[in-house]
Amino acid sequence: MADKIPPPTDQLAAVPLDNAGASSSTVHKTWSPSRTRIRSILGRPNGGAGLAGQKVQISGWVKKGREQGKGTFAFLEVNDGSCAANLQVKVDASASDLSKLVTTGTSLTIDSCLKIPPQGKATKQKIELSAEKVIDVGTVDQHGKTPYPIPKTKLTLEYLRDHTNFRARTTTMAAVTRIRHKICLAAHVFCDKHDICYIHTPIITTSDCEGAGEMFQVTTLINQSDKLETGLPRKHGKIDYSQDFFARQAYLTVSGQLHAETYACSMGDVYTFGPTFQAEKSHTSRHLAEFWMVEVELAFAGVEEAMNCCLDDMELMKNVDEACIHRLQMVALTSFERVTHTKAITLLEEAVAKGKKFENQVERRMDLASEHERHLTEVLYKKPVIVYNYPKEIKAFYMRLNDDGETVAAFDVLVPKVGELIGGSQREERMDVLMKRMEEKGLPIKEYEWYIDLRRHGTVKHSGFGLGLERMLLFATGMDNIRDVIPFPRYPGRADL
Ligand code: 4AD
Ligand code: MG
Repeated sequence: MADKIPPPTDQLAAVPLDNAGASSSTVHKTWSPSRTRIRSILGRPNGGAGLAGQKVQISGWVKKGREQGKGTFAFLEVNDGSCAANLQVKVDASASDLSKLVTTGTSLTIDSCLKIPPQGKATKQKIELSAEKVIDVGTVDQHGKTPYPIPKTKLTLEYLRDHTNFRARTTTMAAVTRIRHKICLAAHVFCDKHDICYIHTPIITTSDCEGAGEMFQVTTLINQSDKLETGLPRKHGKIDYSQDFFARQAYLTVSGQLHAETYACSMGDVYTFGPTFQAEKSHTSRHLAEFWMVEVELAFAGVEEAMNCCLDDMELMKNVDEACIHRLQMVALTSFERVTHTKAITLLEEAVAKGKKFENQVERRMDLASEHERHLTEVLYKKPVIVYNYPKEIKAFYMRLNDDGETVAAFDVLVPKVGELIGGSQREERMDVLMKRMEEKGLPIKEYEWYIDLRRHGTVKHSGFGLGLERMLLFATGMDNIRDVIPFPRYPGRADL
């Protein structure tokens, strides 16, 4: 029996979470009452063949086009962003000016009948659209001052980074974008299922969460003084921030954790999921100056519970696209190895003794470099590894001091291809120990009084972790560079658009 496309209704059909493509009974409606998404045609089990004879309206962009039959008709491959596959459209010369239509990048809306194409040896399509009417066309200006930057030839990812306004039109970037959407959705669904409450922590902050001083400053003083040509206001030789917008120095947040802790110490389990910023001049393929982080904060939980929760969290990746299933299943099915920092260093020293060369020398109390992390997870264990109990001097002030007085209850989850994907810890809930640690690190106690107050009034054991969304995407998609898994990458020297 032919699949029927239900008549347009005002309601959007629920999008299934499993991303398995449209089932025979689901058509993914769009906000336009008449438009059908290409995924709901081609995503059917029979490649859409059952829809032959149905009239549909589709809108999208031409990926490839060619005129045939001495200009009497043209074949277009049209994509609308709903799936990787293109719908083949046959247009007669009577329906439109074919020479304009076949140009890659042209947008169009077509109202026509789905047909089964003649089945030759080379035919891949189970269904095509035979266009009687072209409703709307947005042509590509081929002779203007800025040429269309996405021709149908193969383009490098480096080239595409110079064209972020158009790179979503490529198959790869569109696929990454769909997976990114699914991972974000899965993170919210996971937290909701586990009664972890979504809170919004501020993007503009006056607290340096990691205490590392690598923050972007938010100020209007510079614009103002430029406009008035007065120079920056000064008091006792220093810039007078009391005249700034917030009447004090403010920054873009490096993490929502400290603010999340205030809510965890009332709501129980909470999470924040937003953009975070780091003014560190890192030029690596794993660092961005603006990245997104899911941060979970669990009240009445020790580091053990936090580690278990972030394992469950990784399970959410099972919901992602087919293409990454293998790597994701590996994570979902294998148990993670757990090693202390001390043991990890011993293993790395043994590797060096056997002839392994690292660029960064292995030392007892050092922080692991990416190459060390990857050696542990890719070569030694061949599965995800949790390294815990780090030396206190290489980790942030808020991490709970262990009984040995030397290490903190911190943990990093390392995965193949990426290295560190998650960073977490039990938080220091003892006021005196916390203040001592802050003093050791030379932090201005006064600035953190509000945070210390949480230990003064009803303090509880609590723990949490942060998962870098873009690192997760590197892992899930197999992309090599973090700049290609965020729509508009920001890194030293670059903030296009
Ligand atoms: O280990 P990090 O710095 O932990 C925190 O920020 C804690 N406050 C989180 C918490 O406990 N709530 O960062 C957490 C994760 C890293 O494991 C990594 O995946 C990602 O965030 N990350 C970055 N991703 C891209 N570019 C950068 N510059 C990143 N810095 C951290
Ligand atoms: Mg970290």
